[in-house]
Amino acid sequence: MELFLDTANIDEVRQGARMGVVTGVTTNPSLAAKEGIGRLEAYRRSVEEIAGIIDGPISVEVISTDVEGMITEGRDIATWIPNPWVKLPSTQAGIEAMSVLTSHDIRVNQTLCFSVNQALLGARAGATAVSPFVGRLDDIGQQGMDLVEDIVQVYRTHNIRTKVLAASIRHAHHCVMAAKAGAHIATVPFSVLMQMVKHPLTDAGQSRFSQDWRKASS
Ligand code: G3P
Repeated sequence: MELFLDTANIDEVRQGARMGVVTGVTTNPSLAAKEGIGRLEAYRRSVEEIAGIIDGPISVEVISTDVEGMITEGRDIATWIPNPWVKLPSTQAGIEAMSVLTSHDIRVNQTLCFSVNQALLGARAGATAVSPFVGRLDDIGQQGMDLVEDIVQVYRTHNIRTKVLAASIRHAHHCVMAAKAGAHIATVPFSVLMQMVKHPLTDAGQSRFSQDWRKASS
């Protein structure tokens, strides 16, 4: 399972890149707003900076909610960086814009996916990846990871090549579950990447090795 960083924070992207384990980045208007980005030009500059750090797909979400607006924005975003995935929502307008953009070889990440049917429609519309939002389903009392499992299974049954990108990941156990479910990619906040690497026994073991070596060599 590949790991993407779900952030618009440049410092987090740099740290993730240095670890050598991050192969893409996903952004959205909320993550951009968290970094004080409120204008398209600033969003573009930030995405260009991210693309200069990570040599992989960078997902950039459209702001428009109508078909024409999404198509215009999607075409523009596709010129920003070498490897853009235009994020389009799982709405009627989003699916329509998706079909148009993918027919022009623009890669699309279908976002805000909350059902297998939406994922089937996105696949038909040519999405490169579909993003089931795990945490937001958990938030309303459902088992978000079931959706990832179901989409993986249905795509396998029908030899669908759209990648399953587990999104709205809230903690490290979500990553384990996404990997077990067969997700191709999980996009994780930086804090979750840190949770993934952290284990108290690793820290205790490292400090014990250092102490023992110091004793033996003193
Ligand atoms: O990748 C989607 C993600 O940014 C949404 O996460 O935590 O806002 O549900 P969250």
